[in-house]
Amino acid sequence: MTESFPFDRLRACTNFRAGDLLPSCGAVNAKELATALKEGIEARGLPLKFEKVHCMGRCHLGPTLKLLPAGPFLLGAQPEDAERLLDMLEAGDIEAATTAFPNPDATE
Ligand code: FES
Repeated sequence: MTESFPFDRLRACTNFRAGDLLPSCGAVNAKELATALKEGIEARGLPLKFEKVHCMGRCHLGPTLKLLPAGPFLLGAQPEDAERLLDMLEAGDIEAATTAFPNPDATE
């Protein structure tokens, strides 16, 4: 965590809600994305703790990622985007990450 990159955790939802009956991160490749991000963070030695959670209330916009503490949501990344997203995080370019994987609700 630095002044330019004030985050120490990347949280990922991998929830699969009610089979295919409700939208969820698990239904749109969240588990594969989580695996790619976890492996990428470890391979790069990034100072980010990776954690999986059950839900962050953005089920219809996922896969849902969030930087902590108090970071932005990053929404809709796919497994093939993991390396590009990690490039942005490693460079501390949060604006690029939030532009590529935007949260439609800009108040959060
Ligand atoms: S299922 Fe991922 S945010 Fe709810």
